[in-house]
Amino acid sequence: MLVLGIESSCDETAAAVVEDGRTILSNVIATQYDVHTKYGGIVPELASRRHVENIPVVIGEALNNAKVNLGDIDIFAVTKGPGLLGALLVGLSTAKGLAWAEKKPLVPVHHIHGHILAAGIGKDLEFPFLSLVVSGGHTSLYLVETETTISEISSTRDDAAGEAFDKAAKMLGLGFPGGPAIEREAKKGDAKSFPFTLPQVKNDRLAFSFSGLKTAVRNVTQKTPDAKVCDVAASFQSTAVDLLVQKTLMAADQFGLRRIVLAGGVACNSLLREQMQKEVLAKGYSVIWPAPILCTDNGAMIATAGYYLYKANPANPIFTDFNSLDAEANLPLTF
Ligand code: KG4
Ligand code: ZN
Repeated sequence: MLVLGIESSCDETAAAVVEDGRTILSNVIATQYDVHTKYGGIVPELASRRHVENIPVVIGEALNNAKVNLGDIDIFAVTKGPGLLGALLVGLSTAKGLAWAEKKPLVPVHHIHGHILAAGIGKDLEFPFLSLVVSGGHTSLYLVETETTISEISSTRDDAAGEAFDKAAKMLGLGFPGGPAIEREAKKGDAKSFPFTLPQVKNDRLAFSFSGLKTAVRNVTQKTPDAKVCDVAASFQSTAVDLLVQKTLMAADQFGLRRIVLAGGVACNSLLREQMQKEVLAKGYSVIWPAPILCTDNGAMIATAGYYLYKANPANPIFTDFNSLDAEANLPLTF
């Protein structure tokens, strides 16, 4: 079954053709770094306008690269939320138009559902597993029992991990997106230079918090102006990674889960991967992560989640009810 997945929830315009939820025939991603870099963060209205320009080109390229025509697509899948409303609407309206014209089902997908299944593209996922989703908008742990049975265990009380990387990078003058910039800079620095305390949430041992760490970075930049940027970056990265690894292992123990799957843009971070692997293997558990191109936002993960949602209930009336389908900026993950 061929699925065209469309993603436009933030600053990537993406479309992919995926066969049976596992084989990528094409995966086209148009980033917008050039639009937002000078503002140090994403400007929602500019993102929407760029999506409008990009989306026909990206979808055309996805079909071309896959060597298929629109008529060959069996189902369409699109991100319904969460994300920037204007940005989501561009992908959703386009997907509605295509599915309606082709008289094919349109499967609305939760963005995080896509991220969680990304590691399963091209290989088999073994269930159940614990998923750590770390992106620019989300930091949560999920218990994943099947491709379509997923429940949240804990999440961040304030900033997302990627947001913390982006804000720390901005404070250090490293540009946008901050995650890769911090990672590059940290390689030159000493992570022990600034022993930031590991942020904890009172009465909730599995919850994440990044706002205190962000403030700690700000304090260092203001009070120690001659601190080396690479040392602050390395210290910040090491604390953020310690926090992510510690909470993930605590949740794995508490829920009796021995398989861990990383997802989201921050899962590209090599220190996170290395440290998680080291500590997970020491316990006799396993950890996997998607290829970097499938960690950050992409259409393939949306096609994959759409495929499993359709397979679970092909007669679901929402797949053909185009009138009621709407984008939702704060969509909860429910099944
Ligand atoms: O999953 P994603 O593409 O978009 C959201 O759904 O938010 O994640 C983007 C986030 C950004 O905050 C970016 O700085 C972060 O992922 N990121 C990284 C790295 N690569 C991307 N963070 C840390 N290290 C990286 N190498
Ligand atoms: Zn994302």
